[in-house]
Amino acid sequence: MPQFPNLLALGLASCNLHEFPNLMKLKNLTYLDLSSNKITGEIPSWIWEMRLLNLNVSHNSLVGLQKPYNINTMGFFDMLDLHSNKLRGKLPLLFTSANYVDYSNNNFQETIPLGIGNDASFVSLANNNLTGVIPTSLCNSSYLEVLDLSGNFLSGGIPPCLLQNVETLAVLNLGRNNISGDIPDTISANCGLKTLDLSKNNLEGRIPTSLANCKLLEVMNVGNNYINDGFPCMMKNSSSLSVLVLRSNKFYGDIRCPGVDQSWPNLQIIDIAFNSFSGKLFPESIEIWKGMTLNNNDQDHLHFNLVFFIYKVVQYRDTVTVTIKSQQMELLKILTVFTTIDFSSNNFEGEIPETIGQLSMLYGLNLSHNSFTGKIPESIGNLTQLGSLDLSSNQLTGEIPEKLTRLTFLSVLNLSYNKLVGKIPSGNQFQTFSAESYEGNERLCDFPLSKPCGDHVNGQQVTEVNKEEQESSDVVFYFVSAGMGFVVGLGFIFWPIMFCERWRKCYYKHVDKFVLIIIRKLRSGDNH
Ligand SMILES: *[C@@H]1O[C@H](CO)[C@@H](O)[C@H](O)[C@H]1NC(C)=O
Ligand SMILES: *[C@@H]1O[C@H](CO)[C@@H](O)[C@H](O)[C@H]1NC(C)=O
Ligand SMILES: *[C@@H]1O[C@H](CO)[C@@H](O)[C@H](O)[C@H]1NC(C)=O
Ligand SMILES: *[C@@H]1O[C@H](CO)[C@@H](O)[C@H](O)[C@H]1NC(C)=O
Repeated sequence: MPQFPNLLALGLASCNLHEFPNLMKLKNLTYLDLSSNKITGEIPSWIWEMRLLNLNVSHNSLVGLQKPYNINTMGFFDMLDLHSNKLRGKLPLLFTSANYVDYSNNNFQETIPLGIGNDASFVSLANNNLTGVIPTSLCNSSYLEVLDLSGNFLSGGIPPCLLQNVETLAVLNLGRNNISGDIPDTISANCGLKTLDLSKNNLEGRIPTSLANCKLLEVMNVGNNYINDGFPCMMKNSSSLSVLVLRSNKFYGDIRCPGVDQSWPNLQIIDIAFNSFSGKLFPESIEIWKGMTLNNNDQDHLHFNLVFFIYKVVQYRDTVTVTIKSQQMELLKILTVFTTIDFSSNNFEGEIPETIGQLSMLYGLNLSHNSFTGKIPESIGNLTQLGSLDLSSNQLTGEIPEKLTRLTFLSVLNLSYNKLVGKIPSGNQFQTFSAESYEGNERLCDFPLSKPCGDHVNGQQVTEVNKEEQESSDVVFYFVSAGMGFVVGLGFIFWPIMFCERWRKCYYKHVDKFVLIIIRKLRSGDNH
């Protein structure tokens, strides 16, 4: 561009460029955006000699950084964004003074160089192939607000000093690595952490009691580790907490903390599946429940409700506002967003509360593999967005509520291995479920099971009046179902594929919308 030698800023994002433009002559260029093109090859060496403040080459197919790195010391690099390319080799230590460095979603290897992000407020090295330990030099980065090292092969422990220096640090993401040992109990008194993600590592021991210092915490994810502790009640003063994921650990005991109803007014997601939690889901005090159902507009009560609902976290958008050199920047980080309530695989007992029907935007509910007793709450029929309902492997009794046929979006139903009785409701989606959805309930009858209920015989009569007849028809049922084995087997293969396909599409199309709606609904205290 010889005709514009004095250009200061050049934005060429999404211009379908296939090679790195030669801009060497634009000596005054300070801002260069080449993101979202199709540029291949290496980032040319001359770029490091420019006096750039801001370089964005993200979302290309770049494979390397040409040497030598003759860094222009006159320049003051502010932002270096190399994310989502195919960059490989050792992570270069380019501009130690840069404020914002994003090397994420590349193929960088080897260890994290000492001194990276020294003066930075944002450092992301996520989703690379980095190995070795977390360098303690990161503890000295006193401006750090966001540190994302997730999705690498980092090993060793969490440096205790890293959790000591969390006054400015708002986001610490060490998830999806190979980090082991205990979580250090060194969190400083003026903890400013808002997001702590340590999920999918090999962490052991307990949740540190000093986490009580993090009163601003919004997202806490320690899922898929080996943590052996009770419910983290030390967090009860973290009044901003909206996401708590304890999934797949060795947590045990009751999930209630005294005073939580006052303390977690913003709680939106709890995923505690695959632990050894026990007890009932609801407080002894019926008074609280009454208040909750009567004062629907009382936000505190509504949120109290949510403390007991476990959402399966699939993906959520974690929005973090960071101030970089007095400029507010909104960073969108995609982590995990919930799609279903998931209490599954714990030792919960007692009845499933009717109040579950208040969460009207849910499209997945999984309470399977617990010891729930009593009837299926009719109010589940109010969850009209529900796409998947799994209540299998519990001790549920009574009939399947007719109202469930209102769930017209339901594509997956599993009521297997309970003690349900009577006629399976018909109509709407219920015509599409196979016998597999009901197996292991010996006293259920009618389509799709091969066992008829008999003329004018409802479930009650089947169980009480025709007990003997029922037993003999069980025998018939077993024979017939053995004969049907082949068909059922086929269904078993195809059904999950169909479900996944449908789920996937639905998920990608609607997940953000749903999450927004859910969050908005919960915030507004509107439970319709
Ligand atoms: C760059 O800016 C300086 C003033 O800051 C000006 O003197 C010079 O002509 C500009 N252009 C080039 C190509 O250096
Ligand atoms: C951190 O800074 C202190 C002094 O402020 C220094 O003594 C120490 O060596 C530094 N640690 C690292 C790992 O850079
Ligand atoms: C993870 O760490 C353990 C030691 O804690 C080690 O034995 C194992 O090889 C590591 N796995 C990977 C994939 O690095
Ligand atoms: C229903 O749940 C049972 C037990 O939880 C499980 O074995 C079965 O595979 C599930 N059926 C379907 C169709 O998912």
